[in-house]
Amino acid sequence: ALKESGLPIIWILGGPGSGKGTLCNKIVAKYGFTHISTGDLLRDEVQSGSERGQEAANIMKEGGLVPTEFVLTLLAEKMVNELSNSKGFLIDGYPREKAQGELFEQNIGEATVIIYLEADDNIMIQRLLGRAKTSGRSDDNEETIKKRLDTFHANNDPIIERFAAKTKKINGVQTPEAVFTEVETIIDSILQQK
Ligand code: AP5
Repeated sequence: ALKESGLPIIWILGGPGSGKGTLCNKIVAKYGFTHISTGDLLRDEVQSGSERGQEAANIMKEGGLVPTEFVLTLLAEKMVNELSNSKGFLIDGYPREKAQGELFEQNIGEATVIIYLEADDNIMIQRLLGRAKTSGRSDDNEETIKKRLDTFHANNDPIIERFAAKTKKINGVQTPEAVFTEVETIIDSILQQK
């Protein structure tokens, strides 16, 4: 049903602290799309106290990648649940490796467009250390932030290469408003093509 829905599907990629969540909030406010963050889905699962949630918590604390099968199951379930109310999907934090992107295409459908927020490591580190004071996230500490960045760099280039035709690179080191202005142009153009 998802494949036939014709709804826009936008993947939001970028390193930890590149501004994915911040951008998604702005897109939701203007376009009313359904925002699904795989990090949030996993944190909900951890909160639920399930065994799989506990396994995920240990991996997230180490800045690694939770097994794809588990993440994709959570993501697909959420998309199906939201489908009847949705104007389009913002998929935040997925894919995190090339194979995740390919599995999404096989099981769910193709992304309409991919937004990749680029930012320097030092800027991402400073932002996340700033957020650490209030986020309460067990992975917002200096040691885990470095590991999250390592995981990102180990996996990101092959994703961007594999999906280059659909990927729009956006400078993430500008104000959130400036990032959003660039993204508005991209979204308006995909909505017009429909
Ligand atoms: P996830 O929750 O996705 O974390 P992340 O990718 O590390 O990204 P963040 O949410 O920390 O940052 P963000 O890019 O959304 O930036 P934000 O807008 O908050 O994933 C957590 C973990 O879950 C992973 O490490 C992994 O273990 C697991 N996981 C998740 N998805 C998975 C998957 N697909 N497969 C396997 N495992 C998975 O901004 C950060 C800060 O910067 C904020 O304080 C914000 O106010 C500020 N800021 C944002 N934009 C700007 C700007 N333009 N200028 C100045 N400040 C800004």
